[in-house]
Amino acid sequence: MLIPLDEPGLGRLLEAAVADADPVEVMPPVAGPGGWTEARREAFLAFHRRRSLDPDTAIETTWVIEVDGAAAGAARLRPVSGQAALEVEAGVWLGRSVRGRGIGRRVAEVLLEAARDGGAARFVATTTVDNAAARRLLSDAGAELNVHGVDVDAQLEL
Ligand SMILES: CC(C)(COP(=O)(O)OP(=O)(O)OC[C@H]1O[C@@H](n2cnc3c(N)ncnc32)[C@H](O)[C@@H]1OP(=O)(O)O)[C@@H](O)C(=O)NCCC(=O)NCCS
Repeated sequence: MLIPLDEPGLGRLLEAAVADADPVEVMPPVAGPGGWTEARREAFLAFHRRRSLDPDTAIETTWVIEVDGAAAGAARLRPVSGQAALEVEAGVWLGRSVRGRGIGRRVAEVLLEAARDGGAARFVATTTVDNAAARRLLSDAGAELNVHGVDVDAQLEL
């Protein structure tokens, strides 16, 4: 269900994002008119190439989440420097049509396992107070949640 991102996978991921998610849910903000403009599509591709695919600039591992054989979202793990010897930051998004079916919960389990297997000592993630599903997933995994305004920081010792 989690397929390591590659260039063909990135094309399929963009198609899934455009068809089934809002830009703000899947990538950092890009100035300009709303929706999936050409500039946002290019920024989405550049974001993943820079952060995952280009060996000279890669800082994280990204997977395409496949549901029924089709790209349906992305999951990522980024080692960060912190007080913990090895801290990893996680992120996930799913297309609207597959949310609320327990897929996020299964992906979170796989990410936690991958973080442990990679020798991480701490797992961190950020969400927002209005994201009930993400907060539920993180607290059920045993993470400590701290609210700062609209943001929620989660951390879990592995
Ligand atoms: C956050 C996200 C990854 C969760 O994945 P998901 O597959 O929708 O979540 P699940 O179906 O596994 O549900 C996880 C838990 O949240 C609950 N939940 C799901 N949707 C919910 C909603 N809209 N409101 C309240 N609770 C919700 C589920 O009931 C479940 O808890 P339970 O097992 O105790 O019943 C997904 O909704 C998503 O991609 N959202 C948009 C992008 C995003 O917000 N990413 C996360 C940023 S940190």
